[in-house]
Amino acid sequence: MNSALIRPAVRVSGELVVPGDKSISHRAIILGSIAEGTTRIAGLAPGDDNRRTIEAFRAMRVEIREAPHNRLSIDGAGLHGLSEPENVLHAGNSGTTARLLMGLLAAQPFFSVITGDASLRTRPMARVTEPLREMGATIYGRKNAGYLPVSIKGERLRGINYSLPVASAQVKSALLLAGLYATGKTTVEEPQRTRDHTERMLALFGADIRRNELTVRIAPARRLKGRHLRIPGDISSAAFFFVAASVLEDSEVVVRDVGLNPMRCGLVDILKKMGACIEVFNIKEECGEPAGDIIVKEAPLEGIEIDRAELLSAIDEFPLLCVCATFAEGRTTIRGAEELRVKESDRIGAMAEALKKLGVEVEELEDGIMIEGRGKGRLKGGVRLETRGDHRIAMALSVLALNTEDGIELDDTGCVNISYPEFYRDLEEVIIR
Ligand code: S3P
Repeated sequence: MNSALIRPAVRVSGELVVPGDKSISHRAIILGSIAEGTTRIAGLAPGDDNRRTIEAFRAMRVEIREAPHNRLSIDGAGLHGLSEPENVLHAGNSGTTARLLMGLLAAQPFFSVITGDASLRTRPMARVTEPLREMGATIYGRKNAGYLPVSIKGERLRGINYSLPVASAQVKSALLLAGLYATGKTTVEEPQRTRDHTERMLALFGADIRRNELTVRIAPARRLKGRHLRIPGDISSAAFFFVAASVLEDSEVVVRDVGLNPMRCGLVDILKKMGACIEVFNIKEECGEPAGDIIVKEAPLEGIEIDRAELLSAIDEFPLLCVCATFAEGRTTIRGAEELRVKESDRIGAMAEALKKLGVEVEELEDGIMIEGRGKGRLKGGVRLETRGDHRIAMALSVLALNTEDGIELDDTGCVNISYPEFYRDLEEVIIR
């Protein structure tokens, strides 16, 4: 635990580049490990979550070399070249590592066990283990393989047609990875479109994968081919700076080279709807993903209603949406957010508790939150808040603290290492005190 006082800022101003996209980095490590030939990655996300994925493949005897400046080179083992790990694979705090690996391990001809930290061991896994069992996998774990740790004995899988009960890119991705090894095609239907990094990267590595509206279909693969990838900046990390610049008077921030996958850009659209001054420019393509630069200037925000569909492409930005709502004029209601209860922490509960302690009028709903915005101006601050060991709660509350009179003490800021170890250093770069 690393408690810290986050002091107020007069404004934020400057230009920066944020670390590579965490979601895309996981996919690059996984596909590079099971491809043939060398995969080189530049701009890999530097956090603990991605390290867990790297270590899991090292434990399965994949040769992965790290170089300075977040570069990685992987000697792909091929689709059938992974070795049985000698120990339990530890996914740490990373739901993406655990769920995507389960899909892959279900198809390997060996035994493996995956576990995670205290938070990950409370997160639901039946959404992955049930369809994998339907494909023929042998999986055991607590509550009928509903929670980590789970043990997996890989089997010859069969392709299935599966309708996801919850919109989840992690579950979709696990089934697509299993589908690479299955007999026959695997089809996954989503209730709503979720981030499609796995589909884009599988196509880049040569897999036969097709989308038709809400349905994705993958054919069994004979081989994948290693690639050289440059990963764009993580919009979920850039988002902290967008919100800081929106709410702090006279602020202006430019973030260069940010991933602009349409299923990840929800915060940009929502901010625009709230009246923010935010523009995307210099659009290009990087590793099969759109990317570009984003400029944000301070502007008055207005409270709005945010529904399930809008939220889905800003799912990881919920804590920040609560910060925007706090400094907006009027009420903001966010609904259809029940998945937020089972993220790294119960993010609805965490934000409601923090805002109440700061004197903001908040109503916690089963599937969301209602916040009476205070409009422009600073909160008093001067309180101690709990981050619940959740990186995104810690960073969102830090942004909020900048717009207070007395600052805010956070009980644990070390958790930012999960996705953005240099967050506080980068924040200092743009803060004017
Ligand atoms: C992710 C998918 C989302 C997201 C998580 C990363 C991914 O989770 O919240 O941070 O990389 O596929 P769900 O699949 O649980 O919605």
